[in-house]
Amino acid sequence: MMTRRFFIWTLQPRSALALACFSLIGLIAAVSFSRQPTTIHVRIAEDGGFMPDSIKAHVGEPLRLRLISDDVEHTFALGQSPVRPVTFKPGEPVNITLSFDKPGTYTFYTTTPSSLNFWRMRGVIEVSGDGEAQAADIPLYVHLGLELDKEHESDEEHVELANQPSAERGAVFVNQIPATMLTSDYYVLHSPMETFDELRGEPALQMLSDLVVWDVVAYVWAQHTTSAALIAGEKLYQVNCAACHGENGAGDGQFADEMKAIAEKNNDEHGIQAPTDFTDAEHLLEAKPAILQGLLLRGGMGTGMPMWGTIFTDEETWDLVAFLYSFQFKYQGVHQ
Ligand code: HEC
Repeated sequence: MMTRRFFIWTLQPRSALALACFSLIGLIAAVSFSRQPTTIHVRIAEDGGFMPDSIKAHVGEPLRLRLISDDVEHTFALGQSPVRPVTFKPGEPVNITLSFDKPGTYTFYTTTPSSLNFWRMRGVIEVSGDGEAQAADIPLYVHLGLELDKEHESDEEHVELANQPSAERGAVFVNQIPATMLTSDYYVLHSPMETFDELRGEPALQMLSDLVVWDVVAYVWAQHTTSAALIAGEKLYQVNCAACHGENGAGDGQFADEMKAIAEKNNDEHGIQAPTDFTDAEHLLEAKPAILQGLLLRGGMGTGMPMWGTIFTDEETWDLVAFLYSFQFKYQGVHQ
């Protein structure tokens, strides 16, 4: 206090006025500068995607963004947050304000399939400040030491089912199902095929046909999800996955033909592949939930399957995994 008063006394009245004016201007400039949103120009992935794709923010301070499309319609979505995706068109910029209550790195991305490489359109917001950073869970497959690419390969004969296994038909045999199969530890580590084999060995189920045992597997799988999770999983799927895997899971989304053509031309198992057909029993019935979740989190490392680990919460990934199995199993009557 003392030093400041001393400082003003030594100034001429006029220069004190000038100083006051300057600091007022400074203050106004600072305020209007902070009101100025950060502009993000957006173009299809092949022309640059989000520009800039790295933004800084501070905990508790609003982050204003102005989203401008330079070509076609795009969407701004923020991973691991309840922020609703915002769609914007060329000539119609949109302003949004985000705020963060935890430091960490947040990924933004698009949900508009604007071009073949739309899934590469991603950016990060680095949020600094006080508080505990967003905790990154150790993925289950890492925790369990599962090898995603190896575990999933199977030399078993192809599963072919005459009709879709129905949880409702399987429910009749509820009393013959070993209790361990209903624990989540069992679920994450067993493929439907392994569960089928175990049930096939149950003396109480010996007289059932293979098709009916598959109904019991569907019933077991139904016990590991809820209708709310399936609805949430389907929503996420239609927004984020259908462009490649197809609305009905048949691997026939809008980019499927193009990816298939690239795969055939390159003939490289590490390069772009055709999107998986989830209606084909081979993929899902031989896959453990922990592996599917792992592939989803990590992505296909160059195959064209995006990595979603920084985008979905743990719960969302399990909702998606549960929903994927519904391309094989009929849950009506068990989940309303
Ligand atoms: C840009 C296209 C694209 C999008 C979008 C996409 N995928 Fe994929 N996905 C692929 C491709 C291509 C493969 C096949 C990779 C391979 O053969 O190794 C694949 C494979 C997978 C697999 C592994 C299947 C198996 O049996 O090996 C899972 C699980 C999967 N996708 C789930 C999803 C989910 C869930 C979403 C949405 C959240 C999604 N994918 C979005 C292209 C895509």
